[in-house]
Amino acid sequence: MTSSVYAVTGASGHLGRLAIQELLARGVPSSDIVAIVRTRSKVADLAERGVSVRVADYIQPDTLPAALVGVNRLLLVSSSAAGQRVAQHTNVIAAAKTAGVSRIVYTGILNADHTSNPLAGEHQDTERALREAGLPFIVLRNGWYTENYTDRLTQYVEAGEIVGAAGHGRVSAASRQDYAAAAVTALLLNSEGNRTYELGGSAFDLFELAETITRITSTNVRYRDLPVNEYVDALQRSGLDENAAEFVAALDASIARGDLETKSQDLAQLLGRPATSLADVIGAAHNHHA
Ligand SMILES: NC(=O)c1ccc[n+]([C@@H]2O[C@H](COP(=O)([O-])OP(=O)(O)OC[C@H]3O[C@@H](n4cnc5c(N)ncnc54)[C@H](OP(=O)(O)O)[C@@H]3O)[C@@H](O)[C@H]2O)c1
Repeated sequence: MTSSVYAVTGASGHLGRLAIQELLARGVPSSDIVAIVRTRSKVADLAERGVSVRVADYIQPDTLPAALVGVNRLLLVSSSAAGQRVAQHTNVIAAAKTAGVSRIVYTGILNADHTSNPLAGEHQDTERALREAGLPFIVLRNGWYTENYTDRLTQYVEAGEIVGAAGHGRVSAASRQDYAAAAVTALLLNSEGNRTYELGGSAFDLFELAETITRITSTNVRYRDLPVNEYVDALQRSGLDENAAEFVAALDASIARGDLETKSQDLAQLLGRPATSLADVIGAAHNHHA
């Protein structure tokens, strides 16, 4: 079999970097891996390991063709620039088509067909752009990162509480490491054809999150559920401006409606093992901070 060249956008970000490390861990030669970044110095360590680093910016379409020369399979990590993402992703998809990329793997959002999550529109539009482009694609509809919570572990433990408005809504979250491993499996898959995967780990609600944090850290942390309007006020009192507070509260309201829960086993299937448990992700974050 001839070898393929794998490129990853957003390789300077959390998920993209993990995907490159996972490609290397699976034995893909570094000479077959391209890290696409805006700032070369952010991935100096990957360059040192032999990964090709190419500089491109989603909003500068003339920078994209050179970054994609010779690339067979591309992991398009969704951009962090909410509000500008459809144009950005469309630029990458168009350049990939011109460059003859034979598979795009895109990181979308869980339940994209029926979600009311306020972040979903740009992912739905990107999925449409992929279908219209006509090149083979795999969509990874990623659920929430467990890190959305564990990044605040110290804060939760110090406050003794998690405050939110998600009610008993369940979140099928998984670690970025698991999503990165699944993305690499999707890049490496031998079978052809467009696919869409709904990815998430075992579901928990924020009461269970608090209980698990209590158990792992041996500190009492409870979940205090507020009506959405009261949560907006609480977020503003903690320093967020009105727009940001309303947005964060809307994300919890979306969780309450079940938008971020899935029963799909696609993640475990792509991983070839169960997703890392909530307790293990919390434990790793706790040991890291300790
Ligand atoms: N599922 C979830 O819970 C969740 C949570 C947060 C985000 N997300 C989504 O998942 C993506 C990956 O997550 P992450 O944690 O790895 O995010 P991240 O660390 O913020 O990484 C985002 C990456 O996008 C790159 N980027 C942004 N604008 C760009 C542009 N104009 N041209 C080229 N590259 C650009 C960034 O490059 P620079 O290093 O140059 O800034 C960075 O490498 C996010 O971008 C977001 O779409 C999902």
